Amino acid sequence: MNTSITGFTPITAEIADQLRRIVGPGNVIYGDAERLEKYSHDEIPEPAYAHSPEAVVRPANTEEVAAIVKLANRARFPVTPRGAGSGLSGGAVPVCGGVVLLMDRMNRILEIDPANMCVVVEPGVVTNDINQALKPHGLFYAGYPMSLETCFIGGNVAENAGGARAVKYGVTARYVTGLEVVTPTGEVLTLGGKLVKNVTGYDLVQLMVGSEGTLGVITKVVLKLLPLPRASADLLVLFRTTSEAITAVPRMVSAGGVVPTAVEFMDQTSMRAACEYLTETIPYAQAGAMLLITVDGADASQVAADYETVGEQCLAAGAIEVYVADNLTTSERIWRVRRNMGEAFAVITCHQTSEDLVVPIARIPELVAGMEALAAKYDVQIPCYGHAGDGNIHTRIVMNPAWTLPRWEQTLPKLLHELYTLTASLGGKISGEHGIGHKRKREMPMFVPPAAIDMMRAIKRAMDPNGILNPGKIFDS
Ligand code: LAC
Ligand code: ZN
Repeated sequence: MNTSITGFTPITAEIADQLRRIVGPGNVIYGDAERLEKYSHDEIPEPAYAHSPEAVVRPANTEEVAAIVKLANRARFPVTPRGAGSGLSGGAVPVCGGVVLLMDRMNRILEIDPANMCVVVEPGVVTNDINQALKPHGLFYAGYPMSLETCFIGGNVAENAGGARAVKYGVTARYVTGLEVVTPTGEVLTLGGKLVKNVTGYDLVQLMVGSEGTLGVITKVVLKLLPLPRASADLLVLFRTTSEAITAVPRMVSAGGVVPTAVEFMDQTSMRAACEYLTETIPYAQAGAMLLITVDGADASQVAADYETVGEQCLAAGAIEVYVADNLTTSERIWRVRRNMGEAFAVITCHQTSEDLVVPIARIPELVAGMEALAAKYDVQIPCYGHAGDGNIHTRIVMNPAWTLPRWEQTLPKLLHELYTLTASLGGKISGEHGIGHKRKREMPMFVPPAAIDMMRAIKRAMDPNGILNPGKIFDS
């Protein structure tokens, strides 16, 4: 067998032919470096994290996925599942080469089941499209990742995507009650079902959720639904300083008896970057930072009462202005700015890092204060934004254009080490929603006890004895 330094077999012309026989010749990309390059990265801008696959294969159904994975076990090449490629930790990057399994053809909504309050979908459905299809039924799926207009539900499940509505609705895992997966050895498993409760053995559904494509290929998802809120409103709340805005956050999620849907934080630098990127003119100039707070509910008068309460809490916490957006156009304008914050920084330079820290909600003010102190100490901008209401803060630390590359490369690891040490000391973790991938695996020991990492390794070995499914992610095996 012709094995490479990774211990895997390269994809030969003969293997490529076998793949073509499984999915049809039009659904394999092989031997075309230019077309393969598109699948070498997700949305991490740094080229250092990219790695091209040797082949991209687009299965149409579960049987084809299983046949590809069985072939991979026989021939010993790695398989990395990929949704829309909107990830931010390299989960879909084939770091050991081999095959990228592109799930975009498996994009059907299989069943809307209002009586059981669930929907059954294939992994390649765009998350937002699920809600468009559910609207006429008066139902909705509560997941709301910022990339919802492009990301696939399969990727959301694989990464346990979070997003902005976690304050009230939690994250993807809460809604996944059933899965069909192809195991790393090519068996088809049906797990869970259309069930609200299920304690029938180990919860393998939840083991799969957030396993970053290392324990199975998701081929079907059963999602729990909720009644579509009939009213919602957004508050754009301006504060003089970052500190005043962030200190108000823990109060917003507990005081006044209202659970907001979302409490997003944005500092002035992030706001300016996103507004300039979109040529949008939201009033941010006089504010050092702002909160974007959503409330939703069954009727307009309840929502109005709720946003009055939340608005009063904001003013009591020192807000200088509270704008109410209770029509879709204005709400969408503001949320578009928020959703595009990552992209706004991504276009500036590829020398940057996107962080996804999460701490207990009450420690959020300390984390943000610590980030400001680090920005001053290292003379870099650390723009800060994110889902503050659930403790999850993002930053894009962007290279100062006046710096040389070596200076940036020397400074960044020290800065990040201090930032991660602070996060850990606050009881936090390195990723709230983007996952570990190959990007953050070096830092795992700072946040997860050695025995727990060993346990993860043992699970991986038991399920994937040949190590073919998305190798090189989360931990070294
Ligand atoms: C966001 C993505 C980066 O919240 O998670 O914008
Ligand atoms: Zn986010």
